[in-house]
Amino acid sequence: MISHYDDLLSPKSWLITRRGWAFDRLNHRETIFALGNGYIASRGILEELPKGSIPGTFFAGIYDITGAQVTELVNAPNPFNFKIIVDGEKVDVMAMDVSDHVRVLDMKQGFLVRGSRFTNRHRHRFDYQSIRFTSQNNRHVAVMQIYFTSLDADYEITLESEIDTSITNRGLITEGKKKHFHIYEVTKKGSINYLCVKTLEKEYLLGYASYLKIKKGKTSWSPHHRTYKILLKKGETCQITKYFSFFTSKDVSSRMIKSRCLSTIRKAIGDGFDILRQRHSAAWLKKWKACNIEIEGDAPLEKGLRFNVYHMLIAVNKDVKDVSIGAKSVTGEGYRGHIFWDTEIFLLPFYIYTQPVIAKNLLMYRYNRLNQARSNAALRGYKGAMFPWESADSGKEETPSWYKDENGEIKRVTTGDFEHHITSDVAYAVYYYFIMTQDFEFMLKQGLEILFETARFWESRMVWNKKKDRLEIRHVTGPDEYHDDVHNNAFTNLMARWNLQTAYKVFRIFNKAFPEELDKITGKIKLTKKETDGWRKKIPKVYIPYSKKENVLEEFEGYFRKKRLRVVRYDKHNFPIPPRNILDLEKTQFSKQPDVIMVLYLLGNKFDIKFKKSNFEFYEKRTLHGSSLSPSLFAVAASEIGETEKAYRFLTTSINLDLKDIYRNTHEGIHAANLGGSWQAVINGFAGVRAKEEYLLINPHLPLKWKKIQFCIKWCNYSLAIKVYKNKVDISFPSGKKGDFIPIKVYRIVEKVYANKKNIFYKQEG
Ligand code: BGC
Repeated sequence: MISHYDDLLSPKSWLITRRGWAFDRLNHRETIFALGNGYIASRGILEELPKGSIPGTFFAGIYDITGAQVTELVNAPNPFNFKIIVDGEKVDVMAMDVSDHVRVLDMKQGFLVRGSRFTNRHRHRFDYQSIRFTSQNNRHVAVMQIYFTSLDADYEITLESEIDTSITNRGLITEGKKKHFHIYEVTKKGSINYLCVKTLEKEYLLGYASYLKIKKGKTSWSPHHRTYKILLKKGETCQITKYFSFFTSKDVSSRMIKSRCLSTIRKAIGDGFDILRQRHSAAWLKKWKACNIEIEGDAPLEKGLRFNVYHMLIAVNKDVKDVSIGAKSVTGEGYRGHIFWDTEIFLLPFYIYTQPVIAKNLLMYRYNRLNQARSNAALRGYKGAMFPWESADSGKEETPSWYKDENGEIKRVTTGDFEHHITSDVAYAVYYYFIMTQDFEFMLKQGLEILFETARFWESRMVWNKKKDRLEIRHVTGPDEYHDDVHNNAFTNLMARWNLQTAYKVFRIFNKAFPEELDKITGKIKLTKKETDGWRKKIPKVYIPYSKKENVLEEFEGYFRKKRLRVVRYDKHNFPIPPRNILDLEKTQFSKQPDVIMVLYLLGNKFDIKFKKSNFEFYEKRTLHGSSLSPSLFAVAASEIGETEKAYRFLTTSINLDLKDIYRNTHEGIHAANLGGSWQAVINGFAGVRAKEEYLLINPHLPLKWKKIQFCIKWCNYSLAIKVYKNKVDISFPSGKKGDFIPIKVYRIVEKVYANKKNIFYKQEG
């Protein structure tokens, strides 16, 4: 089926293969087969764009607003648009008969391969094979290649291969389609076509150069026109290779875009397909070296996990700065490309543990918007800095305030008004990054400022309840969005308290270690020691709702008075089936996603296992997993309390969430948070790796099936290679000097782990 590319493909454990043409899977596959290099990303469309396809080409950080309620990621012209017409019929899965059809995503090498066998109205067959990639080696380059064979008769075929500028953002019901760009320049330089479009409101320029090369037998040539005819004799094959280069005014000055596009494409043409592909694959292999996970005894799960990691790898690029990852990454228009807490809490740990440079870039995205966060706080009458619940390019609040549903009803969206925990989530990510990397420079230049300004925000956000002698945070929405505008949400209050505590603590630490540098920061933001003393005094007064009787945190004040419904039935994915006829979840104790469970994970050091267990048991029965963020976190939590097989069931759901379209909305884009959540479930859950302030902890609980799990992580500038077996852990860090050691708590004992040595630790029974 794909004979031209068979030799290139990686072993099966690296391939996501989908056989057969199925219209109802079209958009789902476009999402899972997306390609990207952190600069440009493209949904895995079929090149002929059959009716019903949703093309998506996204450049990191290119947002626009025209015609939309709020700013959104621009769906840009689609380069991978390619049409062959044979005797008036389009070579298309919808137009002709398709007898065989296979698509393969090679995750190891980041390319997408396809083979289709078409039959036209005369019962003549055509073989179509293609490959494409967005280069991992040079982010400004992409390539696609097609082999087309007329199997049964002579035909004159027509090729049409222009960059598709008819693309629009799809828009919601009330907005309709939205075009965010107009054509700015179309020119030719010899056989190279150049297109530049300009976004309407923010006036970004996006430049594309493209070049087509045709090979038939021993001759090859490059046509001057975008529509071109070729004569194919029976059994004859032609090879069509298309090269692209891209630059935008976000990365180079406007007047340089064209010349950079042209010089880059000339170089790519000179290198040719094979060299470009080899370099691209080599760059991918390097990436995988840092983050591949091998699970012995569970091949399907290992492959599924790779798929999740693959999508985290295509979302970012270390050289693309000042951007972050949207809730659907760069694989669809869902959530308009907006950035949520999904990035800091779910995705960031993966990057911190495997590619800290990228983690820092993601935190820099927030730091660069700290001034806007200050304005956000001031606008609402608070101090310090307040990050938006939904963020795009400017750092302003981008949550739409309403939408119209399919029944024509206007629905208010209140998350932007109340979901304030995002501010402490960003602060948490800063500190977590610092513990894992010891990046003092980042702390002194950016991190401390974020921690101090967010602490200031929380201090001003708390209100004193004189009667009850406590500090409260009123009118918030926690992670459980079924209950909005509540008072004293446990997650929010605990994270806010943590923010005050941590800001106070780092102030003391840095004051001792770097007094001059700290002075500069405090001078800049006018922070005094007295103000930080004020934070300390407030910490014990922050109210945390708790039930002694149940020994659980109360999700928010008044939660226990809600209707006491519980989940009793589960579907085939082990998802709870809520009792019928519940019109208003808000009146019940049902939660959308982990809220209390989430905070017990994030602030895990502060709670013991017994307490975590009783909360898990209580909230598991009340969580409907209405958000894709939910199953992975339940997997982490269950594995920590020793419910390993239950944890494994949650993990299976989260690993397959997009592959099997469990939430039935993967066509809108990948569930980015779940990618990171799945990774955390494996590494922080089953492998039991946790970053403590003084040491790294490894306390595994492997599922029955797993014989061994093997992975690499970075810890305080060391690269560690870790193998976890049923009853032992083997750690090496070849990057250290001889004699270097680091303290790691393995199982229950803090051990010295030496560089360049075998370090094996056995599990003590009992
Ligand atoms: C979840 C949020 C999440 C958002 C974007 C919502 O459904 O409840 O926690 O941040 O989706 O993924």
